[in-house]
Amino acid sequence: MGRRAAKITASYIRNHPYASLGFATGGTMKTYFAELVREHKQYGLDLSAVRATFNLDEYYPMKSDDIHSYHWEMYHCLFDHVNIDKRNIHILDGSTDNPKVQCDEFEKEIKLHGGIDLQVLGIGRPPYPHIGFNERGSSFDSPTRLVELTEETRKANARFFDYKIDKVPTHALTMGLATIMEAQNILVLACGQIKADSARLAFEDPITEEVPASILQMHPNVTVVADKDAASKLEMLSLALLH
Ligand code: GLP
Repeated sequence: MGRRAAKITASYIRNHPYASLGFATGGTMKTYFAELVREHKQYGLDLSAVRATFNLDEYYPMKSDDIHSYHWEMYHCLFDHVNIDKRNIHILDGSTDNPKVQCDEFEKEIKLHGGIDLQVLGIGRPPYPHIGFNERGSSFDSPTRLVELTEETRKANARFFDYKIDKVPTHALTMGLATIMEAQNILVLACGQIKADSARLAFEDPITEEVPASILQMHPNVTVVADKDAASKLEMLSLALLH
């Protein structure tokens, strides 16, 4: 799954070397980033002209040099191993004193760089799968903002914090649903049995703000890359196996 998604991304970048890219983090992205690094190192994928990258979310509060930060994860898993110009990287700053200003500036930067051409997304767990950190009930009009994480999300992510939920931050900064929907193309990655219900809820069940990921059904250019487990409850299995 990671390789397939990396191939799609690499082919997009080869056709659009100046693209603006949106990246996600989390367990699902690990093999994807490793494969993207391989595309660069083994197959000569050149990312030097990429005009900007924007990351979906960051914990709050969180220092960027903390090994639990998405900032650290992005550099460790991808940015330190490819030739993206570091000046073009945009990651929300989880140590800001003023989240509102930080989020508004992030939105401005996206616009200033001509929007996001390809946004990569993971998907949260059922029964209310999120995208970014847009939790259950997030408005479909929501911009980039500070949000409170649900107990379920903190539990799910405790595995990255020595399995101690108390260590998982209570809040996060996240790209909004409206912001995500403005991306020209969206690439969603899903793997594992745990995401089977998430995929069905997101792509086939009714569209509702209760299920933030269901907003993707209204986007004109979404590609889903899922492994067999994650795709196992989709009626339109071809949707997940294509591309
Ligand atoms: C996390 C992140 C998302 C991520 C999703 C899936 O909480 N905020 O950006 O895509 O949930 O994470 P994972 O791949 O670890 O299941």
